[in-house]
Amino acid sequence: MTPSEEVKNKLDIVEVIREYITLKPAGRNFQALCPFHNEKTPSLVISPDKQIWHCFGCAKGGDVFTFVMEKEGLAFGEALRLLAAKAGVSLPEYSPELASQKNRLLDAVETAAAYYHRLLMESPVANAARQYLAERGLTEEVLTDWQIGFSPDSWDDVIIYLKGKGFNERDILAAGLAVQKGDGSNRYFNRFRGRIMFPLADVNANIIGFTARVLPANEGKDGMGKYVNSPQGPLYDKSKILFGLHRAKTAIREQGYVIIVEGQMDVITAHQFGFKNVVASSGTALTDEQIKLLDRFTDNLLFALDADAAGQLATNRASQAIINQDITMVEAPDRFGRLHSYIDSARSFKKNIKVAMLPSGKDPDEAIRRDRAGWMRALTEAKPLMEYYFDRSLAGLHLETAEGKRLASQTLLPLIGRLPNPVEKDFYVKKLADLLDVDAKFLYEAMPRTELEVKTNQVKTEALAGAQREEILSEALLALVCKFPAFISYLFDQVLPEYLAGELGQIIYKNLILYYNQTAVNADASLGVFVLDYGDFRRWLEANNGSPATAQLDKLMILGEKDFGDYDEATARVEVKRIAKTLKRSYFNGRLKELAKLIGELESQNADRAELNGMMLEFNNLTQEIRKLLD
Ligand code: UTP
Ligand code: MN
Repeated sequence: MTPSEEVKNKLDIVEVIREYITLKPAGRNFQALCPFHNEKTPSLVISPDKQIWHCFGCAKGGDVFTFVMEKEGLAFGEALRLLAAKAGVSLPEYSPELASQKNRLLDAVETAAAYYHRLLMESPVANAARQYLAERGLTEEVLTDWQIGFSPDSWDDVIIYLKGKGFNERDILAAGLAVQKGDGSNRYFNRFRGRIMFPLADVNANIIGFTARVLPANEGKDGMGKYVNSPQGPLYDKSKILFGLHRAKTAIREQGYVIIVEGQMDVITAHQFGFKNVVASSGTALTDEQIKLLDRFTDNLLFALDADAAGQLATNRASQAIINQDITMVEAPDRFGRLHSYIDSARSFKKNIKVAMLPSGKDPDEAIRRDRAGWMRALTEAKPLMEYYFDRSLAGLHLETAEGKRLASQTLLPLIGRLPNPVEKDFYVKKLADLLDVDAKFLYEAMPRTELEVKTNQVKTEALAGAQREEILSEALLALVCKFPAFISYLFDQVLPEYLAGELGQIIYKNLILYYNQTAVNADASLGVFVLDYGDFRRWLEANNGSPATAQLDKLMILGEKDFGDYDEATARVEVKRIAKTLKRSYFNGRLKELAKLIGELESQNADRAELNGMMLEFNNLTQEIRKLLD
């Protein structure tokens, strides 16, 4: 049996795919929304009997390997490596020369991690590190679980070790384990020296880099920071890693939410004490990719901020970070007029965000060890983002004073204004109005306009321009038909009065229909061509509708001469058809918009199905009609 066959035998495709997407049983098979194309109804089918998958929507399919390759963007060898680890299958004797570069680098980092870990657990060079970690309460079991290690204060030990295992210098460098001397001598030395090594793993538990903590005794001595991290490289991309996710993902799914903290020490302690749904942003800005990593596991995010950070309205790194398509930061002034960054829930409608405030002066690591009750209380009392902002912004303000009201609304209105859901927005505006004892109307007026609203207004102006355009087209059409009455009967078939913009235009058009039916049909219909007696029609119009209508008719006649005086019938016919089509289409589109709105309202009110269905039918018909008008 080949290793890949062995892997397939040991793994159940259903269990593997279940780690990525939600499956529903469907007879002997399972069904899911296909992750490889956009769809609303599931067309991906997984067969446990055959151990294959197929999507009837996008036609992708295959075995467990193709799924993982597709989903993770891996080559076959890389997927084999990942799944072999999952299946507990050991791959045949490894040879660095034969592996893909990515696999070689992964192996280099993994080999280094094992080396560092062994040193920490056994070597006398790691005595101080071992003692420090023990003082911080990390048991041997925890050190092993997280593969924590120690890099001795040496220039080249790990490089020599890896070379001995068959890795070349280029790969050791690319894996982020070495740095090249800046003097052009082409010499390499260890990137990590005399530090506690925390391996960084991707969501599949592949070690891809390190974050290395200085020993307290050496702090500041090498002129480097408390932590030295692996550089960005082919393996490690800090924007795509959440520390601890590989060990937290199951718990996140089971508990239905993820707790996001700042530091890896916080994660390790949390897990040690049984809080296994905890990951860290690792002090960097939380990125799109990091949030997307969580998509697979939950939409419920709980940020555990230490009290100091929370007290400054979350200006610390962890929360600065909550920057991405769904959750972004906004800058807003605090009550002293200083600019602060805030978590912006403008686009967070897909995510449910809560903020837990830890007891003063404590990060999660400390809180969990020394004040477990306080930590638990903070979790249960975590507040929805906007509530949290209310609390923080209003603390210490005298809301009964004009100054207090001004400061409170100055801080909160920009945040409320960015809420995407009008209902939610309204809720918080009213809440603030209540608290400040002012009319909600004033708060709405004072609310800074968001990008979205600015956009909506642009659309409105465009729509206005559209309406003006329709009025111009309506006039042109009437002017054309006054000048070329031969097209009247064609027009009556194609264009209903309500397609025309402008009240006077509609009146003229309706009268034209009446007049045509009375005179033309009786008089000279036999000639086949209707000749409009302008004076006669004008008198008819005047008698029925008064002078504004005749004034408009005069305008149309002049317009017809001015704009279409040199048209022959063929040109006029093309023009009449084009305008008729355009007007019809925009009328249909208007009606479509109305319908969409009505349907939305009815749906939200759980209204009568029959009425809804009728509207849906009209909606679909209109869509069809509009499509026809487009070609
Ligand atoms: P912390 O200073 O809170 O670190 O920084 P920590 O994890 O709690 O570590 P201890 O308790 O001091 O041992 C939070 C995170 O910011 C990143 C690290 O990922 C750290 O976990 N950081 C911090 C750096 O990348 N570089 C630094 O110099 C400092
Ligand atoms: Mn800490």
